[in-house]
Amino acid sequence: MEVVKIRIFIDSSKLDEIKKAHSAGILDGVTTNPSLIKAAVKALKDRGENVDMSGYIKEILMLAKGLPVSLEVIGTTYDEMIEDGKKIYDTFNPVAGNVYVKIPVNPSFEEDSGKNFDGIMAIKELSSMGIPINCTLVFTPEQALLAAKAGASFVSPFAGRIDDYIRSQNGIEFNKSDYFPADGYEQGEKILEDNGIVSGIDLVGQIRVIFNNYGITETKVLAASIRNPRQAREAALAGADIATLPMDVIDSLLVHYKTIEGMKKFTEDIVPEYAELLER
Ligand code: G3P
Repeated sequence: MEVVKIRIFIDSSKLDEIKKAHSAGILDGVTTNPSLIKAAVKALKDRGENVDMSGYIKEILMLAKGLPVSLEVIGTTYDEMIEDGKKIYDTFNPVAGNVYVKIPVNPSFEEDSGKNFDGIMAIKELSSMGIPINCTLVFTPEQALLAAKAGASFVSPFAGRIDDYIRSQNGIEFNKSDYFPADGYEQGEKILEDNGIVSGIDLVGQIRVIFNNYGITETKVLAASIRNPRQAREAALAGADIATLPMDVIDSLLVHYKTIEGMKKFTEDIVPEYAELLER
């Protein structure tokens, strides 16, 4: 059996955040999407800076040299996604050789759009050209299975957004970072679910089981839309190969009241002889 090593990506397009996570020595990759790019551009404009999008993306790629960086297409048909995917890869991969093209598993805006397979076909075509693909907006294990079959390198189940969906479908109010139980949310006697998925972490776990059943090792399970450190832990327990985390979640991975309390006490108790030894 393959030894699964959890990898941590940062889900951000902000250079300062990517730098911070990278300099801590714990970063294994970067994921971006149009919403994250929008937030990064806004932050730059708010500081009065001009935005050269191409140069900005190149800076991210250089910063993360040696680590995969996902950049998303904007087209919503097979042809557009192939065109965008090739353009993204040809323009940006030469910078540091670390570009993954992000393709939505299904680019439809409605159920009967007639293009449910456009994402999968684009994944198959682009990956057959040697372009590594991160298949995004995955909300069911069967979407993940088809993406793996098409040759995606990563599949990205959106854990937090499944939890949002289950809560909002059942009239539960919540804040974005609120914890959602991995084993499901009990309302009265019943566990809430979305077509057999009881939480975002359950989605990650079901994909893991299916991939294990079929020996799928080329496609990595990248747990995305992770909102708090406990969910990051549970993604690891569920067998995610990778978790992509926003900076605030990365920061909070190391915080515990008793660690802080212990630090204060140990620091108070340093005797001069010990301090001298370490020249402090
Ligand atoms: O990686 C996907 C992510 O950016 C979506 O996160 O928190 O907006 O659902 P969120």
